[in-house]
Parts: sequence; structure tokens; C-alpha cells
Amino acid sequence: MVTVRAPATSANLGSGFDVFGTALDRPADVVQVEKAGETTIEMQGAGSEFIPEDPEKNTAGAVARALDSPARIRIDKGVRPSSGLGSSAASAAAVAVGINEAYELGYSREELVPYAAEGEALVSGEAHADNVAPSIMGGFTIATPEGVTQVDASIPLVVCLPEMVISTRDARRVVPRSAEIERIVECVGRAATLVAGMFRDDPDLVGRGMEDGIVTPARAELIEGYDDVRAVALEAGATGVTVSGAGPAVIAACRESDRREIAGAMLDEFADRGVEGRVYQTAVGRGAEVF
Ligand code: HSE
Repeated sequence: MVTVRAPATSANLGSGFDVFGTALDRPADVVQVEKAGETTIEMQGAGSEFIPEDPEKNTAGAVARALDSPARIRIDKGVRPSSGLGSSAASAAAVAVGINEAYELGYSREELVPYAAEGEALVSGEAHADNVAPSIMGGFTIATPEGVTQVDASIPLVVCLPEMVISTRDARRVVPRSAEIERIVECVGRAATLVAGMFRDDPDLVGRGMEDGIVTPARAELIEGYDDVRAVALEAGATGVTVSGAGPAVIAACRESDRREIAGAMLDEFADRGVEGRVYQTAVGRGAEVF
């Protein structure tokens, strides 16, 4: 039996819609995988009551099918579903890594990414890899159809998760189908700035690169209080703030010395509106680990 811890992730980071992602050092899913004649899935942990155990409908089942390797799979959810923290991706990543170990398939971490992305397709309707890539490979990742570029960055982050549910499918419906060339030029500049910031471990550049005038404004409308939460985080020292993945989590980049104050400010701002939540003082983290 193989046990795998696969981390939560934050996709997009503003300017990198469906391309950028970062592993978070917490929370994480812990998954046990054993070879079996047919795939079975047992779930427990955060929000597991909302996830079907039927392998035909579960992201883990889709990954086992994609790898053509049936398995007995037990998932302990640390990453809440529909949070914007790559919940389905963490399970998909853990199962891909676990099956690769259990069956000694010999795939590299990068080669496992498209298989794990098949699990994402079941949940969101599209096999995007911006959450599974960092959950499998760790660090900051740039996932394109041609492959994944990974950077072992070290950037402090705050992730605030309000108690509201936004499904990825709904959040994808509000994404604009086209954009003006001026917005695209801005976005390219910011995305390039963010990548430079990750290579240099520079929170100022990363924060500046998290701005986005195309996808994020449409998504922000789904998150009650987003503009005010963003404003208080910036006042408390965040270098950049944006929607984490499809939301409702909100992510801030910062210096370590400001992390605690930013976390408190974000949580208080949601609480002032009667929205409960939790906050993670985290950082760009490691990828899936096998025990
Ligand atoms: N890039 C995806 C999105 C991540 O923003 O819709 C969520 O799964």
C-alpha cells in the first residue's frame, strides 16, 4: 500500500488564467492506494459527504481509468471541495502518484500531469492542468499543452477561504470569451512580471504580476466583499491580491513579516459582513510526497 500527501494549490494567480499554479504548503489531501482487480473509493474528511464514491463519478476513478490501473483508493480530504484551492486536483494528483508507485509504472512527475488532468475534466468539463501540475510537481508551475515548466519559488502567501460555495463550472461560465488587445497586452506584461518574480523570489514582482483586468473582475463579482477584502489586505502590506483559482478563496502574496496581519485583516473583513471563514498563512510549497 502506498500513502501520498498531495497539497492544495492556487491556480491562475490573476494574470495566468488556466496556465499558472502554485503548490501551497498546506492544506493537503492524504490518499492511500493499493493494487486491486477493480477500482473502489472510500472518502473521509473535509466536505467528503459532497463527493460521490462511485469511481465513474469521482476524480480519483477517472485517474485510475486514465492510467489503466484499477486500485483500492482511500481519500482523506484536507482540501475542501469548491474552495478555489484545487480540491479535486489534490486527490487526482495523489492518486496518479500513488498508482505510479503501486504499479511501478515508471512515469516521471511531469508525465503524470496529463493523467491527473483527466480527473479535472470530470469535475470542470475541461482537462486543464494548472492545479494538478503544482500538486504533483511542487513550486510554481506554468502548464501549457506543450508541457510544464516548474520553478522552486519561495514566496509567502495568505489564503482566505470564506464559507461560500462557487462551483468551478459556474465560475467558468462568467469568464469573458474575448478581450480587447489593450487588456491582452497588459496581461502579458503582468504574467511576465510574475514569472520573473517567482524566479527571483521577489514578492513585489509576484504581487504586481497578480493584477488582471480580464478574468478576475468577472469572477470577483461572485465573491461577496471581494473588493473590500482585497483593499484591507493591500493596506496590511500584501504585494498583490487576487481570486484563488475559480474562488471563493482569495490569495495574497506578501513578505513573511506582514503575513499574520494580512491574514487577520482578510478574515475580519469577511466576518464584518457576516461571512465566516478560515485563513491559511502559507507559502509556495512542495509537491506530492510518497510515504
Ligand atoms: N484555471 C481554472 C479556473 C482553475 O480558474 O477555472 C479551477 O479549477
